[in-house]
Amino acid sequence: MDFVDQLKSQVRIEDVVGEYVKLRKSGPSRYMGLCPFHNEKTPSFTVHVVHQFYKCFSCGAGGDVVKFVMEKEGLSFWEALKQLAERYGIPLPKRSQYSDEDSRQRGSAFEMHEMAQEAFRANLESAAGETARAYLARRGVTPETIAQFGLGYAERSGQALVRMFGKRNFPSAQMEQSGLVGKRDDGSFYDRFRNRLMFPIHNESGKVIGFGGRALAADDTPKYLNSPETAIYKKSQVLYNLHRAKETIRKQDRVILVEGYMDAIGVTAAGVANVVASCGTSLTAPQVQAMKRHSARIAVNFDPDAPGANAAERSIGLLLEEGMQVRIVELDGGLDPDEYCRDRGAAAYQQRLDEAKGYFYWLADRARAKHDVRSSEGVVAVLNALLPAVEKVTDPLQRSAIANDLASYIGVPQGMVLDSFRKTAASRQEKPMERPKIALRHDERLLLNAILADEDVGKEIVGQLQQSDAVAGFASRRVFQAALSLVSAGGRLSFENLHARLEEADQNLLAEAVLEGEPEVTPGAVAAAMESIRRSQERGLRDQIKARIREAERGGNWEEALRLAAELEGSDRAARGRG
Ligand code: UTP
Ligand code: MN
Repeated sequence: MDFVDQLKSQVRIEDVVGEYVKLRKSGPSRYMGLCPFHNEKTPSFTVHVVHQFYKCFSCGAGGDVVKFVMEKEGLSFWEALKQLAERYGIPLPKRSQYSDEDSRQRGSAFEMHEMAQEAFRANLESAAGETARAYLARRGVTPETIAQFGLGYAERSGQALVRMFGKRNFPSAQMEQSGLVGKRDDGSFYDRFRNRLMFPIHNESGKVIGFGGRALAADDTPKYLNSPETAIYKKSQVLYNLHRAKETIRKQDRVILVEGYMDAIGVTAAGVANVVASCGTSLTAPQVQAMKRHSARIAVNFDPDAPGANAAERSIGLLLEEGMQVRIVELDGGLDPDEYCRDRGAAAYQQRLDEAKGYFYWLADRARAKHDVRSSEGVVAVLNALLPAVEKVTDPLQRSAIANDLASYIGVPQGMVLDSFRKTAASRQEKPMERPKIALRHDERLLLNAILADEDVGKEIVGQLQQSDAVAGFASRRVFQAALSLVSAGGRLSFENLHARLEEADQNLLAEAVLEGEPEVTPGAVAAAMESIRRSQERGLRDQIKARIREAERGGNWEEALRLAAELEGSDRAARGRG
């Protein structure tokens, strides 16, 4: 067994995929969830634990566990192997170093970030970190929280990382591309972060991919200096703290979205661990999808000022479009989440979370503050302000529930709200999920499952089918033909081997055959399927004879017609004899 096979046999695909996708058991050896490769509201993403593959019937993504990690993390083949091996404690063979230029680049960027993270952390504990430590203490950040979030300090010299990377012989181009080091016009290098409090940013699998650096002096600008986009840090895809929060997000089936690094930290320190931060930039669809893989219920808790409220209002549209259930948390006293937790305590914050309003109440409040709902013009203005958001709710039941609530909330007849909703509802309709409809017969589907369930039985079936020409009439004939050539070439009859020999359309068909319904493969069921195939073949033969009889009769060829009729009679008798 080569290393890849060995690794695949030791790693459970449902565990690996389960770190990114909320999976639900949907059959004896199947799980389903929302596809992480495209945006969908109804699950069409399936994982088969015996045959060890995943497949999305909507966007077509599919493959084995290594491919999953490659695509999800944007890694090369070797990097994905390495990550899986490390994660599951499987020793890597020596030669599997990074192979191509691109993955070497990414590999060293990861390494440099790890080194930088370690250096920043050590700085914070050293004499140089005193001001930064005092700053954190003043803000009530405990040593435990500092350790938990890996906070650090970038010292003043601007040469620490440059020297460290130089000593480790990183080529200067790689240093620069890591985003941690800048290049002056005269060609010399400097550390991007100087005299700043450092917040490491992680990808979903917990690797450091970038940093946010907070100024310590009030007059130092910008307040936060962030890593640039690099090969390993794609800002529009990353949420701060997601790798720590995802476990709790799933358990509580709710994610809390805040704006700042310090908010995520303060809220976590208050014992609310299901929090992530968007980091000041406006929310993107990939970020929402990343949250939704863990929970579809979100509480948005942006800063209480006007920009925060506007950002919250903008985010609502996107969140609804992505099918999230949205609540808005309101904090009094003009405090941001971090300040609120510190000033009012964990219990008070928890209470604000518990009483968070559905987004439409929050929007209605905002609109009501602008318009007078005692006048009919005011009501219309409020409704108009709410329509864009309500329009994005795709579920008609949920929509009419909202209309109901909203009507009583703003004090107008329910019919009026429903009317204005219906007008916009008519203009949009959700595209149904596309699922390829493949006409697989029950017997053919069962045999496909049977040949993969047990090698010996598989060979036997393939051999028998080879004798007859029944296979020629199957939608899955090319799969059977591939199985036959696999067996005659002495290959092992496994899902993977078979899959590898097929064109894409037939790969889909094979995946569909083993995923759909999971027929129970028993000797009796196999025998019945073989018999059913034999019969249908016989039926086909008789239909052919009948057609030839009709043709002979039309042509006045009575002798031939009689001979064929006798043949038909014989085959009918034989069929009846078998019962
Ligand atoms: P805030 O100004 O609210 O920062 O910006 P904060 O996290 O509450 O930090 P403190 O409490 O003032 O120390 C929210 C987020 O916007 C991004 C950062 O991600 C920050 O956490 N930001 C802000 C920047 O990227 N650059 C800036 O100059 C300011
Ligand atoms: Mn703050």
